[in-house]
Amino acid sequence: MIPALGVCYYPEHWDRALWARDAARMIDAGISWVRIGEFAWSRIEPKPDQFEFDWLDQAITVLGEAGLKVVMCTPTATPPRWMLDKHPDMLAVDAQGNPRKFGSRRHYCFSHRPYIAECQRIAQILGERYGRNPHIHGWQIDNEYGCHDTTLSYSIPATIAFRDWLRSHYDTIETLNAAWGNVFWSMEYDGFDQIDAPNLTVTEPNPAHVMAFRRFSSDQVVAFNRAQVDVLRGLTDTPLIHNYMGRVLDFDHFDVGADLDVASWDSYPIGFLSDRLEASDVHKSTYLQQGDPDMQAFHHDLYRAVGRGRWWVMEQQPGPVNWAPYNPAPLPGMVRLWSWEAIAHGAEVVSYFRWRQAPFAQEQNHAGLLRPDDVAAPALAEAKEVADEIATMGAVQQTRADVALVFDYPSDWAWSTQPQGADFDYFRLTFDAYRALRRAGLSIDIVPSSAREFDGYKLVLAPGLAGCEPALYAALEVANAQVIIGPRSATVTDELSIPISGTPSIAGMTSQIELHESLPPHHKRPVVGGGHVVHWQERLANVESPLLKTENATTVLSDEGNFWYLGAWPDETLWDRVVAMGCEASGVQMQHLAHGLRVRQAGTRTFAINYAAHPVTWQGCEIAACGVAAWDAGKRVL
Ligand code: GAL
Repeated sequence: MIPALGVCYYPEHWDRALWARDAARMIDAGISWVRIGEFAWSRIEPKPDQFEFDWLDQAITVLGEAGLKVVMCTPTATPPRWMLDKHPDMLAVDAQGNPRKFGSRRHYCFSHRPYIAECQRIAQILGERYGRNPHIHGWQIDNEYGCHDTTLSYSIPATIAFRDWLRSHYDTIETLNAAWGNVFWSMEYDGFDQIDAPNLTVTEPNPAHVMAFRRFSSDQVVAFNRAQVDVLRGLTDTPLIHNYMGRVLDFDHFDVGADLDVASWDSYPIGFLSDRLEASDVHKSTYLQQGDPDMQAFHHDLYRAVGRGRWWVMEQQPGPVNWAPYNPAPLPGMVRLWSWEAIAHGAEVVSYFRWRQAPFAQEQNHAGLLRPDDVAAPALAEAKEVADEIATMGAVQQTRADVALVFDYPSDWAWSTQPQGADFDYFRLTFDAYRALRRAGLSIDIVPSSAREFDGYKLVLAPGLAGCEPALYAALEVANAQVIIGPRSATVTDELSIPISGTPSIAGMTSQIELHESLPPHHKRPVVGGGHVVHWQERLANVESPLLKTENATTVLSDEGNFWYLGAWPDETLWDRVVAMGCEASGVQMQHLAHGLRVRQAGTRTFAINYAAHPVTWQGCEIAACGVAAWDAGKRVL
């Protein structure tokens, strides 16, 4: 597959006289895809049932005739103001009971049936008009589900839909009462219509109630997306896509992705480092203008799995963003590096957000490939460089990695419902494991917890999987791999209660958790041989072969045959040791990498990606500051 570059374009923001020149400049920059329309509902349908297609027809023609492939979007993330007059109760309601008002975007509740019908109506109209247009080569549905905390809604439509969901899941109220343990605090219900969304309770609601609401809320996103898929499938043969946002875990992306053809995500490395990552001040200073060296790769690997091999970066940061607490500019070379890193992980398209910086509204301080005055911003030249390099490099293949990391959205819902310690965060734990694997120079496949086939993997990590799914553990048991699980694995039922048969609830496991503790950030427990336990520790009983112990003799890692159970949250040094032991046991080859350097094997190509702001050496070659290099069977190709 030969990768390509794209850009996000808003013809409705610019005078028509600019469109043809913009399109020609995109082509000159080596861009071949352009995404349009995701926020344009007020210009497509300015009044209910009154459409203005003239501008959109012309924009698609101008872009297409210039040689660009257009990704058309359904504009359902930004319903126009009149929609609220038609459906005053369509807004999502926050946990405090306040409606989330008009005046930005994503102002809808996933459970509002009349709004879903409006979305199907506009998808039908757009699909009929453009579904077979030869310039349209893909469809994006909506924009960034869940962004701005929009998955959970405590509205009346959501509450009614939740009751229906509960009815279909539990059948009788007695079953629900028993499953949730509602005898506790006299919380028993007499009927489904008495059950509310789990907000505004005096103290914490029943975790089983919250977990059911989290599952329901995820299912509502899946259903919302599917409603538009159902319409568009019959109207276009081009791929259906959604653009997910980094570290958004409130709905199951694997479930949404199952209905789509391509997964894509929006990569803002510098914004993420500042805004949504736990890291030391030293780390944040070191990578201030590059982004975290593993955050992008993690999501690339995740969305390769969500898209079942087909994925894009739909929005790539091109310069300073506007939305993080601090917004430094990328160092020279970083836009090229991020683009190549995505390609090394299998991206079919890397699309920059956005073409020209808007001089108005919320994102006026967000860079584009052009400045608002039309002058090229630094990223344009870097995009062109990538396009030229792609032209000489040719196709990039993906093959199964030696190492798999299991990822599971419901575990995030479980641990955020019952963290038991302020720092127990599922993404943070999984990402810590991923980072350690990357520091060891490994290429990784992220796989869903629904995977039942692990052929070819030598090392599998599955940290913090809340549930006790026997089929998953049976599949891991027969995998020809060293499997490292824990902490907190298989410790809760689907209803978020403790399995009374003991934990971890995994057939054949000897070690059992007697007690667990959460630890404050200032407390670390040294481990014999190096590293510390942080945040979380379990006391394991019946350990037959301990592999690691704390200095006060508590088992940290227990050998259970092809499973190793990790009864603690390791710090960086300890994770490095655990990964090194796992590699040794499974015959996976580790590498020594300079700080900031990461490598990725893609078919016969090896990519070296240097997030450091200074040159580093790898296997005798110098890799420039913020530089990328690639070899094919030993021959340098980048
Ligand atoms: C994304 C969003 C874009 C734009 C961008 C700014 O989350 O999809 O529309 O807002 O962020 O960085």
